[in-house]
Amino acid sequence: MVAQRAIERIAVVGAGAMGRGIAQLMAQCGCKVLVFDLDPAATTDALASVVKVWERLVEKGRMTAADAEAARARLSQADSLAGFADCDLVVEAIVERLDAKTALFCELEKIIAPDAILATNTSSLSVTEIAAACARPGCVAGLHFFNPVPLMKLVEIVAGERTDPPVIDALAALIERTGHRGVQVGDTPGFLVNHAGRAYTTEALKILAEGVAPPATIDAIVREAAGFRMGPFELLDLTSLDVSVPAMETIYRGFYQEPRLRPVELGRRRLAAGLLGRKTGEGFYNYSESGERLPADIPEEPAGALPDRTAVAGTGWAAERLRDWCARLGVDVVDPAPQTLTLVAPVGTDTTTECARFQTDPEWTIGVDVCFGLDSHRTLATSPATRPEAAGQALALACKDGVAAALVHDSAGLILQRIVALIVNLACDIAQQRIARPADIDAAVKLGLAYPHGPLEWGDAIGPALVLEILEGLVATTGDPRYRPSPWLSRRARLGLSLLRQEP
Ligand SMILES: NC(=O)c1ccc[n+]([C@@H]2O[C@H](COP(=O)([O-])OP(=O)(O)OC[C@H]3O[C@@H](n4cnc5c(N)ncnc54)[C@H](O)[C@@H]3O)[C@@H](O)[C@H]2O)c1
Repeated sequence: MVAQRAIERIAVVGAGAMGRGIAQLMAQCGCKVLVFDLDPAATTDALASVVKVWERLVEKGRMTAADAEAARARLSQADSLAGFADCDLVVEAIVERLDAKTALFCELEKIIAPDAILATNTSSLSVTEIAAACARPGCVAGLHFFNPVPLMKLVEIVAGERTDPPVIDALAALIERTGHRGVQVGDTPGFLVNHAGRAYTTEALKILAEGVAPPATIDAIVREAAGFRMGPFELLDLTSLDVSVPAMETIYRGFYQEPRLRPVELGRRRLAAGLLGRKTGEGFYNYSESGERLPADIPEEPAGALPDRTAVAGTGWAAERLRDWCARLGVDVVDPAPQTLTLVAPVGTDTTTECARFQTDPEWTIGVDVCFGLDSHRTLATSPATRPEAAGQALALACKDGVAAALVHDSAGLILQRIVALIVNLACDIAQQRIARPADIDAAVKLGLAYPHGPLEWGDAIGPALVLEILEGLVATTGDPRYRPSPWLSRRARLGLSLLRQEP
């Protein structure tokens, strides 16, 4: 193992979208940066575009002219790899192919100093596998930036199985100097962010595939009741299915068919049909020639008058929350009776299960999500037997105080319980596998995925015991092991501990 020197001279190989951003960031933080690309025109273009960015920052007053000039003086073009002999670090951002990356690193090892670091910006290959082809695997690590590099303030610092700890320390110190947030992560498929991101869109696709609600309804519920900036289908249309479906499949295969990560067949089918999203103008939404989203078809919801009588069935905290909500709406709650609108509060279960459990009239029973959205966007679920009149009455009731509500088909955990509990559970399992520290998981998910909360702090705010109850309800109702709680969650829920609590 080598003691690591401070990083001052950096080489960037590959001057595409990522390489130019990495070169910009490194030159800005005071490092000397050399850029090389197999295509010399790409390097020239990259340097010119970085200089343009600095000029714009100076114009906007976000950078001084002197700083821009100093950064420009630190950035230069290399004609060959031979110029890298005195570099402390080489970051590669070339084509995403294992053979290309290993060939490059083997060549670089003959040129650079024995204690210089080789970092890969790969997003889907194994750092350990790239390092295994090298003579000094201890000097190889991952430095996973996000696009666009200067704006996405997160970097995953990936330790391969043989990476020397001082290499990780040196990279962490460098990233701190750039002002970005570095998170140290294990070399597992998808690293941290792409792994943690699997719950959101995958579960939304599963909900869609089950026919619970159309994309626009699911997106509205998720945005308005949980505070996501973009609904899952808006996000899938933006990232494009040709990127997200292979990412889902690779991570699933990488973890040997872990059911929590199982992709949904509908994604592959839509990809085959060319319904990629914004890129092709057709996705879960349609887009005009100029890229504007066209209005989505939303099925007509049953209209109805306010009910004469409303009943709440059930016992326990969820039914109590439902009774309180009815009281806030100024509704007198009666006992369940046939042909009386009867509300139930599924937690991880569905409307049908609660209807059978409390022997309510199936034609007049409606489930309400009491875990999410009672104050924002409310979700109501019918059973297969619910009459349109009952659904209409329930909607009129839910919108009585001007809050939006959506009526969906029956679904275990309705919509948000499923999605949020899976996001929290997946983050818990990432913590359980020691892929990253709990606080880093939250920071990375907020910065890398722009979720409204870190998943572990969110689980704490909801209550680990409630997240566990939702997951247990999902397992009991569906029998699907994708919903099984992570031991990280169940242990902390049972002991009343925070999900951020790490063992010494
Ligand atoms: N684009 C993203 O959103 C993103 C995000 C994170 C990580 N990454 C990873 O970063 C890497 C680069 O991605 P990108 O989007 O910048 O690609 P890109 O296609 O924009 O650029 C790649 C550049 O590398 C050059 N190149 C290819 N082989 C080379 C070699 N052997 N030696 C020198 N130069 C070579 C190409 O000429 C090209 O200019 C990939 O590993 C990718 O998975 C990409």
